[in-house]
Formats: sequence, C-alpha cells, structure tokens
Amino acid sequence: MTTTTETYTIAVIGAGGKMGMRVSNNLADTAHDVRYVENSPAGRQRTLDAGRTLTDAAPAVADADIVVLAVPDLALGPVSAELVPLMKPGSVVLTLDPAAAYAGLLTTREDVVQAVAHPCHPSVFLQRETPEQWADTFGGIAAPQDAIAAVESDDPAVQALVEATVRAIYAPVIDVHWVTIKQLAQLEPTLVETIACMIGALLKESLDEAVNTMGIPEAAARSILLGHTQVALANSLNGDNPFSDACLIAMDYGRESIIKDDWKKVFRDDELDKNLARMLHLDRIRR
Ligand SMILES: NC(=O)c1ccc[n+]([C@@H]2O[C@H](COP(=O)([O-])OP(=O)(O)OC[C@H]3O[C@@H](n4cnc5c(N)ncnc54)[C@H](O)[C@@H]3O)[C@@H](O)[C@H]2O)c1
Repeated sequence: MTTTTETYTIAVIGAGGKMGMRVSNNLADTAHDVRYVENSPAGRQRTLDAGRTLTDAAPAVADADIVVLAVPDLALGPVSAELVPLMKPGSVVLTLDPAAAYAGLLTTREDVVQAVAHPCHPSVFLQRETPEQWADTFGGIAAPQDAIAAVESDDPAVQALVEATVRAIYAPVIDVHWVTIKQLAQLEPTLVETIACMIGALLKESLDEAVNTMGIPEAAARSILLGHTQVALANSLNGDNPFSDACLIAMDYGRESIIKDDWKKVFRDDELDKNLARMLHLDRIRR
C-alpha cells in the first residue's frame, strides 16, 4: 500500500462516543483538518469539554476527503443513508466495524469509496517499555498496535488516504494489514469476539467457579490462572515451550468435555450471517 504525508479533511461522525473520542483525541494531534459532528447532548458536551468545535453534519461531510462513521452499528444504516448522498465525489466513507458493511446495510454510491478499519489492539506479546504502554491495553494511546483495513478501491491515492487515516485514528500503529470486507468480518467478530473474547469470559467464569463454588482463596486462584494464561498463549501461539505430557492429557480432557466437535462451523458463511444478524438485531442478513 502507498503511504503519504499529505494532509486531509476528515469528518468524525459520533465524535463524542467511545470510539469517536478516541479517534478525535488522536486526530487532534495531527495536521489534518478535522470536523467533529455529534448529535447527542452528552456527546456534544464531551466534544466541547475536550476543547473541540462542533460542526453540523451536512457541511462537515460535504467538505471531507474521508468521513469516519463512529456511530453505533445499529445507526450505521440510517446515518449512511443521510450522509453518503452529501459526500463529494471521490471521497471515502470509513466505518470502524465490518458488520454493517458486510451485511449490506450501508448506503453506497458509485463515486464514494467504502472502507472499514478495525484496531487489532496491542498484542499480548508486545514488548512494552513504559508504564503508559503497560496501562494502554486497548491501544490508541501509548502502546503500539496493528490495524486491519479493507478498502473497495484499487486507486493508490485512495488507499493512501485510508492508510493515513487509519494510522492517525489508531496511533501508534505498527502495520496496517489489508484484507477484504468479508475477511475482516471473519476476523471480527468470528475469530476475535466469538472465539477469543468468549474464551476470555470463560476464564473469568472458571475463576469465579474455583473461588465461589470450590472455595479456593481468590488470590491463589487468580494468580495461578493469570500466570498459566500467559503460558497457554505463549506455548500455543508463540511456540515458546512444549506443554508437559501430563498437561497435554489434561488439555485433551478439557477439549472433550467443553468443546463441541463441530465448533469450526462458526467460520462458515451461513453461521457468520447468523452471528451478524444477531449482532445487528436483524431477523436475517439480506445481501
Ligand atoms: N467501543 C469499542 O470498543 C469499539 C471498538 C472498535 C470498533 N468499534 C465500532 O465503533 C463504532 C462506534 O461504536 P462506539 O462503541 O464508539 O459507540 P458509542 O455508542 O459509544 O458512540 C456513538 C456516538 O455516536 C453518536 N451518534 C449517533 N448517531 C449520530 C448521528 N446521526 N450524528 C452524530 N452523532 C451520532 C452518539 O451520540 C454517540 O456519541 C461502531 O461501529 C463500533 O462497532 C467500537
């Protein structure tokens, strides 16, 4: 992909929301010309409290090289229907999650490019050097992270615009990985929310079971779980050390007792559609 030092006009819609504030905090540190748009009273107040000026949606979008839709996924359909028709030819509409784009809920235009970019969040194996990097588990503040992006254009200038925006909103960014919108949906939600975040929640439930049902002191249970979680990830994903023979037997017992044989179906297209329909509160995905 082409990188650039050019500056752009960027509109952030939903600037006072969770992602809107993160994205805006980072954009405010760049030379880009940024327009902040927010419609809820609380979001408007947060934007003003951060020292930023609010702009109405129509003029902000009409001027923008790229419009970042940081609104809730359920609002992306109506918000894109309102704003995409106002955008200038050759501009880019960027969403921060692939679900609505992959489900075909966004208003599209021949002369407006659709793009999606999601932060990877800082790796568990990141070599953190400062307290600020250790504290930044989400990314976008101090700890370097990668980002995944999809853009429906082969134009190097458009790709450079998207990459510059992605590097700015999720800064500090190490690499931007380019995939299709469908692949981004297979990564997020399937790989990282349906699987990884679910396993994280399962670990918490297991800890609660050890403490509350088995009566094990919480400090002991938490300490051994967190250390072993690092070993489990380092051995499985990084190849750091082999698991012991006894551990492998215990792991087999866990897989047989906990995992369904057909679990990999979550990667199938029809299952992805079911998952996305639930997330987007639809009866089914109609593409
Ligand atoms: N929260 C996360 O951790 C996270 C991480 C990655 C991606 N995302 C994605 O980022 C997007 C935003 O999610 P969020 O969690 O920040 O949502 P949020 O609910 O925290 O914020 C959304 C903001 O958009 C505003 N808004 C809604 N409609 C608007 C409109 N028509 N005009 C102007 N402002 C409007 C709301 O008032 C609110 O301030 C979603 O696509 C989400 O999937 C979120």
